[in-house]
Amino acid sequence: MLSNKTIEIVKSTAPILAERGVEITSYFYKSLFEAHPELLNIFNHANQKQGRQQTALANTVYAAATYIDQLEVLLPAVKQIAHKHRSLNVKKEHYPIVGEFLLKAIKDVLGDAATPDIIEAWGEAYAVIAQVFIDVEEEMYNKAKNEAWEEFKAFKIVKKEQESSVITSFYLEASDGKPVPNFQAGQYITIRLSIPGEEYLLNRQYSLSDSPGKQTLRISVKRETGENIDQNGKVSNYLHDSVNVGDEVEITAPAGDFVLDGSANSPLYLISGGVGITPMLSMLKTVGDNQPNRMVTFIQAANDGKVQAFEHEVSETVHSMPNAKKFVILQHPTSSDREENKFDFEGYLDLQKLEQLVKEKDATFYVCGPAPFMGSVIENLQRLGVKSENINYEFFGPAIDLKQY
Ligand code: HEM
Repeated sequence: MLSNKTIEIVKSTAPILAERGVEITSYFYKSLFEAHPELLNIFNHANQKQGRQQTALANTVYAAATYIDQLEVLLPAVKQIAHKHRSLNVKKEHYPIVGEFLLKAIKDVLGDAATPDIIEAWGEAYAVIAQVFIDVEEEMYNKAKNEAWEEFKAFKIVKKEQESSVITSFYLEASDGKPVPNFQAGQYITIRLSIPGEEYLLNRQYSLSDSPGKQTLRISVKRETGENIDQNGKVSNYLHDSVNVGDEVEITAPAGDFVLDGSANSPLYLISGGVGITPMLSMLKTVGDNQPNRMVTFIQAANDGKVQAFEHEVSETVHSMPNAKKFVILQHPTSSDREENKFDFEGYLDLQKLEQLVKEKDATFYVCGPAPFMGSVIENLQRLGVKSENINYEFFGPAIDLKQY
């Protein structure tokens, strides 16, 4: 139990730390990795370089500090992060290391302003926050151990298939021949690769794109292009160019809480932008397997017909479900997309289009895609009168922050 004095100090200094948050956590990561370079086998170097992880961790620690006397409020957010930690094999013995360097960073960046009382209070608060994560994660490790496996396990690529000009699917089978684990539609796996020329192992999360109960696990990876190609695209390009049938990769057991509620029978809207289709397709196929009469509207936005993936699979699934519909929105359709009648709407999935598509405001909504797409879809759904609690979404990349609490 923290003393009232500690709680008071932590709460009153949290805003000062938040203000210098990015500075403190940037310093923290630099000194952490200097002392413990082995942790670079766990952290995503692209996120580090872009400062995304710094912001996520900083925001979380300060939000947690603000709620230090009622941490249960943060549990849903803790669970989401804990899923990510478990899938990356973050272990309880890592927490004291992170704590030591975080405190050192607070001390060094704040200088004289960080009095011994303040440092002591934050040390105690960090221990309490860390214990919440450790407990939640321990439960997740036990579940993974019982239902799948605990850490990384070798899987073989048994099929590689191009789904669009930028998305390729990889079908994975356990190298030890054991059956693949069950999972919930919407979950992801972490894949860990040793890439020639790279000093450290690289980890990335990919959603499972097929329904559970198959002989293989399937991920569908978008090839990253553009300015930050070195950082962002290392793993996806390596998978596309150099990982082939017969090769082995290491993965952790399925994780994540952005999952289909298969116990509900409410009308369902599955809305995706770009490669955000991967968890949505898993959900669609799962409903097709288990609740074929459920009302489902599958809305897929893509730039054009060349990058639009899974056209055949979506159509086949939707046609097998009497109450399912699908709509394709292409932002910049090509002339052949027009000739082949490949889309239902042209342009951006804006308020007007959503108004035409969304007939049941009390339905359950799942949204996945790039951040700007999701931001605008969520805002427009709310404008149409959909309640926030009925909108489920997942951003790719680090969870943005805990400001919503
Ligand atoms: C991801 C917070 C401890 C390693 C994250 C994220 C948050 C966070 C908010 C982003 C979640 C997302 O991507 O959805 C915290 C807090 C901690 C803590 C508040 C302490 C109380 C640790 C420890 C380690 C660790 C001890 C291991 C040394 C990671 C890694 C990621 C991550 C590898 C994935 C993102 C990346 O690779 O850049 N954490 N974390 N974290 N955390 Fe933690």
